[in-house]
Amino acid sequence: MTNKSLVSINDLSTDELVRLLDLAERFEQNPAQPVLDGRIVATLFFEPSTRTRLSFESAVNRLGGRVIGFSEAASSSVAKGESLKDTILTVANYSDLIVMRHPIEGSARWAAEMSPVPIVNAGDGANQHPTQTMLDLYSIRKTQGTLYNQRVVMVGDLKYGRTVHSLLLAMAQFNASFVFISPKELQMPLELKQFLNERGLRFEEHTELAENIKDADIVYMTRVQRERFSDPMEYERVKNAYVLRRHMLEGTKPNMRVLHPLPRVNEIHVDVDDSPKAYYFTQALNGVFARMAIMTAILGLTDRVK
Ligand code: CP
Repeated sequence: MTNKSLVSINDLSTDELVRLLDLAERFEQNPAQPVLDGRIVATLFFEPSTRTRLSFESAVNRLGGRVIGFSEAASSSVAKGESLKDTILTVANYSDLIVMRHPIEGSARWAAEMSPVPIVNAGDGANQHPTQTMLDLYSIRKTQGTLYNQRVVMVGDLKYGRTVHSLLLAMAQFNASFVFISPKELQMPLELKQFLNERGLRFEEHTELAENIKDADIVYMTRVQRERFSDPMEYERVKNAYVLRRHMLEGTKPNMRVLHPLPRVNEIHVDVDDSPKAYYFTQALNGVFARMAIMTAILGLTDRVK
């Protein structure tokens, strides 16, 4: 994947996914390796972020590289009307790799087609969030010991949730079965269900939470994203559809883990946080190791521990 952009999780073969996870594991064991010494990474965030931007920046810093960028379009010349194309061509002059989050679906692909340096998609609208998927895969493999044959329950905003779209595509490579729990208005898009059908992978759809998590290996909670709704009344109707509470974890598999890309609003009650099944804050930590691996591989570098 040297010098290639990472726009969609489909850009990576199964072998590449596994090699990246192995590299991330080595970075977790030995994080202080100056493999990005002399490299500059630009982080261009046209949408708010805590984890994605800061874990990328932490990863660059820990690997001895340097970071430039902006955390909101208002502090860049985009506020004066500069186009995405001109922004990318300019920032590519100053950096070796660009990490970009943008609200428009397809913006990352468009940026990658015009950019002379690799683009890493840090989320493009409701489309994809492939680096989140890498840390999700890392978290699943670490907690379950394998990526294969997992029963993954996805809960919440499955229509606009880019994290679940990317995760579904990736876990499909490992013979996962899926349970989709959402309000009718926020069901998993038809094309992704067709994708599973074409591959002979099983999925179920439900609207109830508690009774459908008992056989889960992974319960992947998501936030209903106010920023994706054009109709505020529709958001109000569905925003508190699901709240996972600690008592609901009784009777679930001993090794089941609750994941969430975060931020959460109300969908995981704080009484879950102390459960040994709550994994979402460690999941966010895993983002540093996964992003170390992604940048190192794209820049054609390697870790110093083999
Ligand atoms: N998971 C995730 O994308 O979080 P942020 O929006 O805080 O980056």
